[in-house]
Amino acid sequence: MRIVAPSILSCNFMDLKNEIIKINDSKAEWIHFDVMDGHFVPNLTFGPDIFKYFKNNSNKFMDVHIMVSNPMFIAQLFIEAKASQIVFHYEACQNENEIYELINYIKSKDIKVGISIKPGTDVKVLKPYLNLLDNILVMSVEPGFGGQKFIPNVLDKLSYLKEQRTINNYNYIIQIDGGINNENKELCYEKGADCLVAGSYLFKQEDFASGVESLL
Ligand code: DX5
Ligand code: ZN
Repeated sequence: MRIVAPSILSCNFMDLKNEIIKINDSKAEWIHFDVMDGHFVPNLTFGPDIFKYFKNNSNKFMDVHIMVSNPMFIAQLFIEAKASQIVFHYEACQNENEIYELINYIKSKDIKVGISIKPGTDVKVLKPYLNLLDNILVMSVEPGFGGQKFIPNVLDKLSYLKEQRTINNYNYIIQIDGGINNENKELCYEKGADCLVAGSYLFKQEDFASGVESLL
């Protein structure tokens, strides 16, 4: 499986209408929304109102990555806004009860659920939850900003997740996010990624649709 998810963090917010059209006309199956709270990460982005401009003007799968310290509160806002998937951070949760609560709550609303881990977090901490998840997001930069350099030593996490999925017959999608471009994409797929998130690489392309194809 090869899915490209443009991160709108790097789009031109002065020209949202055309940015949405560009994405709609491309082979990107997902749109990736980076929600930041200025607390879990040192940056602030947007909430459900901006999200709804996209939701109301696109039929793509709406993938919401919440980098926030209060994931339950923020998840609720994006459940109401009708996200297709909500991915929260393992590191933002206080204990395993909170993780189970979030997974069960999001699923109960018929929305897909994922967990993300920062580059320094051991992928094995996710083992107890693997059977419950629709998506696992491996960060290949420190969350917070677009345009950072890819950290190659996270690639082994993809292999681990792929192996666990095969051994146990799990169903999750393996996603990687941060510093993705046409030079490292093949390695990501080889190691096990199914979905590549890309922001700055895609939005700096002259021709957005060919940029997406260069990641497929
Ligand atoms: C970073 C975000 C990423 C970011 C990727 O915290 O999660 O989705 O937008 O941007 P690039 O592709 O520029 O690294
Ligand atoms: Zn992201």
